[in-house]
Amino acid sequence: MWITRVVPAGGASLVRMAVLLRPATESDPVHVGALHQRSRLAAYAGFIDPDVLAARTAESFGEWWAERFRWEHDTHRMTVAEEDGELVGFSYIGPSETPGAAELYAIHVDPSRVGTGVGRALMVQALKDLPSIGGDRAVLWVLTENETARTFYESGGWKPDGETRTEPINDVPVPQLRYCHPL
Ligand SMILES: CC(C)(COP(=O)(O)OP(=O)(O)OC[C@H]1O[C@@H](n2cnc3c(N)ncnc32)[C@H](O)[C@@H]1OP(=O)(O)O)[C@@H](O)C(=O)NCCC(=O)NCCS
Repeated sequence: MWITRVVPAGGASLVRMAVLLRPATESDPVHVGALHQRSRLAAYAGFIDPDVLAARTAESFGEWWAERFRWEHDTHRMTVAEEDGELVGFSYIGPSETPGAAELYAIHVDPSRVGTGVGRALMVQALKDLPSIGGDRAVLWVLTENETARTFYESGGWKPDGETRTEPINDVPVPQLRYCHPL
């Protein structure tokens, strides 16, 4: 799927950029790991100690995603967003531990592209793909203090369903809220 966005090109002129959404292939997860790490450092630094976030390198995150992709590629789906051949975002969906639900595990946009519509396009695509995973609703977990992501999800029709949990990020416990979307 292609989406287009309009960006300033100097002076008063505007240029239309095309973003391609496509299923990930074997060579993508290592780059997804690096983007995931950049995204966390930029987006979570206001509420998680940057030293804690920096404890994981882009390389180790890349290896972790490559391994996960190998194990889960039959059951889960990774979508990547590319602009001019450059990775600018990704999403990951699959079966959930929440009974009767499919799960949106992650949406991350490269910090240089945040606010340009890439996240919304990934979410719209994920909501199209989630029914193929199974279940009558989709769930996701978001960091309680991640106000930007909560507003982003709420603008896409997701609602908190009252469930909470605490999960570690680099060994530091972080509170999360569960959001739900009918399928
Ligand atoms: C959350 C995230 C995926 C949103 O992607 P994005 O490309 O920046 O979002 P979009 O430009 O498509 O915006 C879609 C909507 O989200 C909301 N939104 C986006 N950025 C926002 C911000 N900084 N503050 C409040 N609302 C925001 C708006 O409602 C926006 O709708 P609008 O364009 O009609 O105003 C992106 O900011 C990101 O990667 N953040 C870091 C990682 C993260 O927190 N991921 C989610 C948890 S896994």
